[in-house]
Amino acid sequence: MSKVALIVGGGQNLGAFLSKGLADDGYRVAVADLNGSNAEHTAGEIAERHGADHVLAIQANATDEADVRRMVRATDEQFGRIDLMVYNAGVAQASKIDVFPLDAWQRSIQVNLTGYFLCAREVSKVMIRQNSGCIIQINSKSGKVGSKHNSGYSAAKFGGIGLTQSLALDLAEHNITVHSLMLGNLLKSPMFQSLLPQYAIKLGIPEEDVEQVYIDKVPLKRGCDYQDVLNVLKFYASDAASYCTGQSINITGGQVMF
Ligand SMILES: NC(=O)c1ccc[n+]([C@@H]2O[C@H](COP(=O)([O-])OP(=O)(O)OC[C@H]3O[C@@H](n4cnc5c(N)ncnc54)[C@H](O)[C@@H]3O)[C@@H](O)[C@H]2O)c1
Repeated sequence: MSKVALIVGGGQNLGAFLSKGLADDGYRVAVADLNGSNAEHTAGEIAERHGADHVLAIQANATDEADVRRMVRATDEQFGRIDLMVYNAGVAQASKIDVFPLDAWQRSIQVNLTGYFLCAREVSKVMIRQNSGCIIQINSKSGKVGSKHNSGYSAAKFGGIGLTQSLALDLAEHNITVHSLMLGNLLKSPMFQSLLPQYAIKLGIPEEDVEQVYIDKVPLKRGCDYQDVLNVLKFYASDAASYCTGQSINITGGQVMF
């Protein structure tokens, strides 16, 4: 029987790309998202390529304990197991610290960190039962290096590394591996594009020049692509990486090297 992946925040952009890429790689996929119609849309595309029995769409709020329990139960009931959970849900709101709104800070901690904790905790119960599994958090280089005007996001993503390492220690005896993927800027993503106005102010340059500034920071001279993330994700979720756990893996074109 093929492996099963649960993608939290799989409804659009990177999450949808990873959901479809894992389905193309042979996984049966549960696509969960706060936005139920996006989850349905992505699941529909997978069903067209691989058949309706290969996919499940779930509307769920990753920061709500009852929703997360329902999401994990639905996936387990549909497919009978969960081999891989990808925590992709994330939010970013940029502001300088002296005017950073408390509600933006709290939302960042909730979605980027608490949601990861809740989803990992609930899915670990299924993986402990199986005595196998892999948990992967989609993190950011902002989880290793502070990010100007991005304190809420960066603090939450730094927290994700501590959680990943602790989960890896708790779950090693159950043959479950845990990693964070530290992405460079996905320059073409709506999330990055939405930050351009604030970044232009931060840098004191026109909006149309911002992308090049971010490209110039990367030794390999390009932004991170969704495909770069999928390539690394598939490796760390595979048996070929079974001797690795608790790692924070840079996918930054050399911009971060530790
Ligand atoms: N875009 C970038 O440049 C960039 C760079 C580094 C890391 N990342 C990380 O990559 C991941 C995906 O980024 P993206 O650009 O595709 O973002 P996106 O905003 O397009 O996608 C995030 C998804 O998470 C979902 N989501 C948000 N809150 C949720 C919740 N409470 N419960 C369930 N689902 C929820 C959204 O509905 C959306 O489908 C995020 O974790 C982000 O931090 C992005």
